[in-house]
Amino acid sequence: MSPIKKVIINKNTNINPIWIMRQAGRYLPEFREIRKKNSDFIKLCLNENLASEITLQPLKRFDLDAAIIFSDILMVPFGLNQKVEFKKNFGPILSDFNLKEASTLDEIDFVKKIYPVYKAINQVKNNNLTKGKSTIGFVGAPWTLLVYIINKQSPKKSLKKDFFNDSFLINRVLIILEKFLKIHIKNQIENGAEIIQIFDSWAGLLNEKDLPNYVYIPTLKLVEYVKSLKTPVICFPRGIKNYKEYCEVVKPDVICIDYEVDPLEISKKIKIPVQGGMDPKILLTDKENINKEATKYLDIFKDHPYIFNLGHGVLPETDPDLMEYLVKTVKDY
Ligand code: CP3
Repeated sequence: MSPIKKVIINKNTNINPIWIMRQAGRYLPEFREIRKKNSDFIKLCLNENLASEITLQPLKRFDLDAAIIFSDILMVPFGLNQKVEFKKNFGPILSDFNLKEASTLDEIDFVKKIYPVYKAINQVKNNNLTKGKSTIGFVGAPWTLLVYIINKQSPKKSLKKDFFNDSFLINRVLIILEKFLKIHIKNQIENGAEIIQIFDSWAGLLNEKDLPNYVYIPTLKLVEYVKSLKTPVICFPRGIKNYKEYCEVVKPDVICIDYEVDPLEISKKIKIPVQGGMDPKILLTDKENINKEATKYLDIFKDHPYIFNLGHGVLPETDPDLMEYLVKTVKDY
């Protein structure tokens, strides 16, 4: 059994497996090299050979315990025929969502559009570099994808006032997302993903009263679905304040925490395996500070099933040598 699964399934507390969100990405010169020649990000995600090569790049450098497939949560809106572009220093830009078209879209047409993602997973899973390690697949949570589909760009710090105006549209989109996210999850698992992470990057934008409708209930449906496929599921509801309530309602196998919550409080209140937490900005400082912060998390979760990770994706400015130092620090603990 891979170290990460030992933590999730056996609740092992003697090992400290590590992987990093966005571990394949812009802080690696070898990624930037490929990216330079491939200006269309979606097309790059749909190139199964390059996508698997990029996925494996961090594993060639660092002693990580998982490969997370190089793709994006916005591949699902793309599969639903929404145009998705990435503008430099701005982020994603989506075209208008065509509800009528998406309502009548067949499973086959959706899968056909993003099929190379599954082939890339297959290549990664069958590569020697992932032997004894976990291959992680992922989806965006329904709420976070709804935000991108309606808002058509990253919402920054808050939602536009009229975001909830068209409740018919919102409810329809959530129903469509449930259907196609399940299809996307199933295909990733059938092609070699052994764990699924659900990214809810914008969960923190909601008022507490809206969490059940937009975060808890839609995510619970996906969590139950992943579990029914005998696959562990990690949830990352970034920015919510009440992680305990989230765990009690949504019941993921692992809860991934952001860098704004107090890890000590989490370790006391939450019994399920925990992942992540350390502020990605720490990796922009120095070895001494990295050692101190990483050790803080490892000490706090010493007797708790814990998977080391950051509290959000690694920043593009990160020095790969300091990433190497972090991985070594965790492994030598
Ligand atoms: O290494 C990995 O973690 C796997 C690959 C991965 C990417 N995106 C590649 C990527 C994963 C798991 C994601 C998830 C994702 N995508 C999330 C959830 C996690 C989070 O960061 O909150 C979100 C919200 C997105 C949407 C998205 N994709 C945005 C907002 C952006 C632009 C901002 C940015 O960070 O560049 C992307 C682009 C993106 N996705 C890049 C990568 C490597 C950068 C593309 C580039 O080279 O320009």
